Amino acid sequence: MADPDFNPWRDRVEATLERLLPDPTRSPTRLHAAMRHASLGGGKRIRPLLVYATGTALGAVEADLDASAAAVELIHCYSLVHDDLPAMDDDALRRGRPTVHVAFDEATAILAGDALQSLAFETLAAAPQPPELRLAMLTELAQAAGTAGMCGGQALDIDATGAAAGPGALAALEHMHALKTGALLRSAVRLGALAAGANAATRAALDRYANALGLAFQIRDDLLDVEQTSGALGKTAGKDAIQHKATFPALLGVAASHDRLTALFALMQEAIAKLELHSDTLSTLARRVVERDH
Ligand code: IPE
Ligand code: IPE
Ligand code: MG
Ligand code: MG
Ligand code: MG
Repeated sequence: MADPDFNPWRDRVEATLERLLPDPTRSPTRLHAAMRHASLGGGKRIRPLLVYATGTALGAVEADLDASAAAVELIHCYSLVHDDLPAMDDDALRRGRPTVHVAFDEATAILAGDALQSLAFETLAAAPQPPELRLAMLTELAQAAGTAGMCGGQALDIDATGAAAGPGALAALEHMHALKTGALLRSAVRLGALAAGANAATRAALDRYANALGLAFQIRDDLLDVEQTSGALGKTAGKDAIQHKATFPALLGVAASHDRLTALFALMQEAIAKLELHSDTLSTLARRVVERDH
């Protein structure tokens, strides 16, 4: 995802996060420091980029997208803190630094995740859109974060870990990926579209784009776990196989997983081809997602 063209949007969301996150010198200082550790200094910021790319491609101004971009990234940062906990993936490295429960402690990591989630909704509740639209945006993000989205997908991930792949394993894996990773990425696209006042046909096309992008993003994540080094990823490589995680490379093999990525890239391009967009940033992001090396 190293693409300097997107750095202004990265800088923008990082400035918003810096402003929103509680001052680490304010009590409870340990909790506030952990929240900042989880959210600042690292991360590709793909979800905020999707909010800005979608919104501006449809004519919205960046200032109207800042709250949505920060909110979706805060949910993502919370999900990473909890995903890394000993009770879940038990990871010690994230974004090139110790995970929150290692740098602080488990109780603080749980609370930091909880507080990041609250801050996400507080931020979105204060977005500049009119109340009715804001309510739709809050509902969207809540559904993406909850049992029909990220949390549900994480539960399926835990259920599938170590389990033998039976009939219907591919469909089950795709469903798990759609929830645990796809829902929040799609929510980023939807928040951008809602803020821009997109019509139903445009939103449907963008959903097709986002569904393909979400699945592609997690397939790429699964492949990187196999093919990359911990140094390049900033997180421990090779752990999925050790922990017997249900992944695309484990089920289909590396070559077939790459083929699937190519097919999903074509789907993404096809989904947005007929839209009248102000820029080609969604197309560029599609390419970054399937080609990223970390
Ligand atoms: C990692 O997400 C977790 C998944 C959903 C695969 P990212 O790869 O977006 O992580 P950061 O934000 O760049 O660290
Ligand atoms: C995590 O998927 C998805 C989340 C909801 C956080 P992974 O467990 O594969 O993410 P990494 O590889 O730890 O970043
Ligand atoms: Mg996980
Ligand atoms: Mg993990
Ligand atoms: Mg992974």
